[in-house]
Amino acid sequence: MNVLITGANRGIGLGFVKYYLNQGCKVWGCYRSDLGGLADIESSDLHTVQWDVQEEKRAAELAQMGLPDSLDLLINNAGVYGANQSFETVTTETMKTVFDIDCLGALRVAQALKPRIEKARGTIANLSSKMGSSDDNSSGGCYAYRAAKAALVIVSKSMAIDLAEYGIQVITLHPGWVRTDMTGHGGLIDVTQSVAGMTDVIHRIDEYERGAFVAFDGKIVPY
Ligand SMILES: NC(=O)c1ccc[n+]([C@@H]2O[C@H](COP(=O)([O-])OP(=O)(O)OC[C@H]3O[C@@H](n4cnc5c(N)ncnc54)[C@H](OP(=O)(O)O)[C@@H]3O)[C@@H](O)[C@H]2O)c1
Repeated sequence: MNVLITGANRGIGLGFVKYYLNQGCKVWGCYRSDLGGLADIESSDLHTVQWDVQEEKRAAELAQMGLPDSLDLLINNAGVYGANQSFETVTTETMKTVFDIDCLGALRVAQALKPRIEKARGTIANLSSKMGSSDDNSSGGCYAYRAAKAALVIVSKSMAIDLAEYGIQVITLHPGWVRTDMTGHGGLIDVTQSVAGMTDVIHRIDEYERGAFVAFDGKIVPY
């Protein structure tokens, strides 16, 4: 099985890399600029790819990136939280940048890789967050992150509908509150637990409705 993961040099992305390598998969681990934890992995099944999800990749460039012809699983994991996001402090620039990475990044990567995923009749997993759920929003704030992750849920649902005719399945995931750099390592669960839960959901994708928003524990996230 061929798996490509964005934002794979640390945190949850790196956890996905280790999980799928352990399963005997071939993994394309993408990093923005720093190889990070990918540099410490010794495996001929790991291919590292420089890919900033803010970049638009043209076909000629994609052809030079050493990607597989056929891709069974794309995990759109890359994301940022953003800074200063209260009502008083959030800026247009912060809103745009977080949206560009957390929502449009996943769409751009999926558009670029669609022919390869179609070849494998593969799966796209988009990492959103419960912070993107209006149902879950009782504390306000976090304007940029909440808006971008909410938009990703909607974009992911449309992808699920539009790509079904190509044999591609799409699911939206909430990883839990995970101890990574993003949470200042203050989350409730560790990366291994989050990845174990999410990979199980991906494995059982047929049990969920098209484009469902599902947490690491298998529960549907109302949005
Ligand atoms: N941790 C949580 O509790 C939690 C909860 C809900 C959802 N999530 C989501 O889960 C995903 C992973 O989160 P995490 O906790 O592992 O975060 P993290 O530790 O901050 O790692 C974020 C990853 O995304 C990469 N990234 C950021 N901007 C990028 C860009 N423009 N192009 C390519 N890669 C980029 C980072 O690369 P660099 O090293 O280059 O910055 C890094 O690899 C994110 O989408 C996040 O929103 C996390």
